Amino acid sequence: MNSDSDLQIAGDILAVQHLLQPAREHPATVADFVGLAHSVAADRAQWAHLVEYDAASRWYHLLRTGPGYEVWLLSWVPGQGSGMHDHGPSSGVLTVLEGELTERTERTSRSLGAGAQRVFAPGYAHEVINDSLEPAVSLHVYYPGLTEMPMHPSQSSPAAQDVVRA
Ligand SMILES: [Fe+2]
Repeated sequence: MNSDSDLQIAGDILAVQHLLQPAREHPATVADFVGLAHSVAADRAQWAHLVEYDAASRWYHLLRTGPGYEVWLLSWVPGQGSGMHDHGPSSGVLTVLEGELTERTERTSRSLGAGAQRVFAPGYAHEVINDSLEPAVSLHVYYPGLTEMPMHPSQSSPAAQDVVRA
């Protein structure tokens, strides 16, 4: 050993961009998006006054956008559901803000209470429904922003290719 230090740098340290990035202004990782959803969930002043309940059709509101992502606020009156769908090329984080929702996939059914979060990858298929007797509110982060939400054939409706978000 002829070095004074165990640490040796191979190549140009200035080329290793990820070591040099300043604190991010916008979320860019799954953990960042989960954290963003947590912070919105914890601050009712950001969303509670915006929520509307619409028994005739699903209600949703674009709460925030940033580079490559969208944050949507959704409400669900009892009995409202999304139908079975995926999210095209988008990943997502679903967070229940208020009430209780049920998420079903081909194999599972789980109850999601306030604060529950689900992270899903592109291609993940599920159905979300308010099976409870009280309205529910949820927050949905999509990365990249949702451009398509294909309905799955067994649940398909005439508006199958509409983006209705869930
Ligand atoms: Fe969904």
